[in-house]
Amino acid sequence: MEVIKSFVTIAPPEIVTIKKAAPEYIRLIIFSSRRRKKQLYNPDLMLSVMILILYDSCTGNTQAMAEAIAQGAREAGAKVFLKVLDDATFDDLIKADAIIWGCPTYFGMMTAKMKKFVDHSNDIWGELDTKIGAAFTSSGGISGGNETALFSLIQAMLIHGMLVTSLPGRYGVVAIGKPDTKTLENCAKLGRRVASLLRT
Ligand SMILES: Cc1cc2nc3c(=O)[nH]c(=O)nc-3n(C[C@H](O)[C@H](O)[C@H](O)COP(=O)(O)O)c2cc1C
Repeated sequence: MEVIKSFVTIAPPEIVTIKKAAPEYIRLIIFSSRRRKKQLYNPDLMLSVMILILYDSCTGNTQAMAEAIAQGAREAGAKVFLKVLDDATFDDLIKADAIIWGCPTYFGMMTAKMKKFVDHSNDIWGELDTKIGAAFTSSGGISGGNETALFSLIQAMLIHGMLVTSLPGRYGVVAIGKPDTKTLENCAKLGRRVASLLRT
């Protein structure tokens, strides 16, 4: 507030008018952010929305992440479909209100199996427009390309016209090897966040 007050004293009159209204806007922003957080942790606000969590996993690390994301989304009241890539159909994507997909980092990218699925999803291009999306990956080590892998997953969502979200300060959730407690917490947070965005 102090910053705004001191700005008001030096600003020309027309700017002063706008700046005087600023505290109201600030109150509004704070209020909606608090309300959003309240909604985020209120499982009583049941949802009729469906979140598809789709994963590829060879040795179980990405699968553990997917399960934690599903748990978080369910806690927030969402209906969740947890699907391994081999069993997923494009109809699953179309039916979902939000899609959270993930796979291991292979050579700094999504796995070939995931890429094949993504390439074929061109058949339903347009159907995923404006759905909410988020991504996760498991990798062998730091600086081994997990962020580029995440981004390859996000890019595909963007090409579909999806509205990509994440946790603040991250492209998505990343695990190094077997996800530890902190990573699993972040996975659950991502699930809760996506569920909260679907509330009207
Ligand atoms: C073919 C192959 C390529 C990989 N490439 C990378 C890589 O580029 N960077 C990395 O950090 N880890 C890499 N890894 C390690 C996996 O990302 C890591 O073991 C991951 O946790 C496996 O996930 P999953 O248990 O869900 O299969 C690679 C593993 C395989 C089998």
